[in-house]
Amino acid sequence: MTTYECILLAAGEGQRAALGYNKVLYKINGVNELYRYSLDFFLKDEYCKKVVMVINEKDKLYFKNVFKTLKSNKIDFVVGGDTRGQSVYNGLKKIDSEYCIIHDSARPLIYKEDVYNLLNSATETGGATLATKVYNTTCHIVDGYVDEYFSRHSLASIITPQCFRTSMLNEAYEDANKKGLSFTDDSSIFKACGNSVKLVFTDNISIKATTSYDIKLLEGLLYATHR
Ligand code: CTP
Ligand code: MG
Repeated sequence: MTTYECILLAAGEGQRAALGYNKVLYKINGVNELYRYSLDFFLKDEYCKKVVMVINEKDKLYFKNVFKTLKSNKIDFVVGGDTRGQSVYNGLKKIDSEYCIIHDSARPLIYKEDVYNLLNSATETGGATLATKVYNTTCHIVDGYVDEYFSRHSLASIITPQCFRTSMLNEAYEDANKKGLSFTDDSSIFKACGNSVKLVFTDNISIKATTSYDIKLLEGLLYATHR
């Protein structure tokens, strides 16, 4: 299997979680900060050669101290931008490997088998994203009413991690920046540039800490699984 470097995103503000500080710094069950779950995963993974943590300017001092105590030669960091896309773009400048994995540190549940499936797919296609099946009936909305139903069998929910050939993702970002386009994730940027995105489905649960409710849910799950 190929080695890779990882861009771990932590540069948001966590506005919807409304904690008054960046949600990725929230201490789950009073023990580990939210971002530590994915940081520890990538630091431990032998195929991961470097973790570029993308941090918020406001948290710079905090993270500098953490990195000092962790004493890992695998960690590098960069300050993020106003949008998630700008944060990834800043992180990309520090990537030296042929393949990069991008992950939201707000998603603490991460599994080795998913990461390896993702890597194997990306080496075949150039770009792959982890995805989950959709179990609810879904529709398009107009003015608060159902406009059109979608067959859930032809839908996927796209999550992170995602993996790309670094040169192809760089090109996609430059293209999107030139055209002034912005997207909510990297697979859409990659696709908009004409590339194919391979979907790698998982049955493992992935929750992004978005609201305070998600954080409570994650605390329960991580407590129950002794993590
Ligand atoms: N992120 C980032 N840089 C940004 C915005 C987001 O690195 N400018 C990161 C967040 O830290 C998070 C991930 O991207 O790990 C997913 O974003 P989201 O869940 O939207 O986090 P926030 O932007 O922090 O939350 P909110 O949108 O509620 O303010
Ligand atoms: Mg956001």
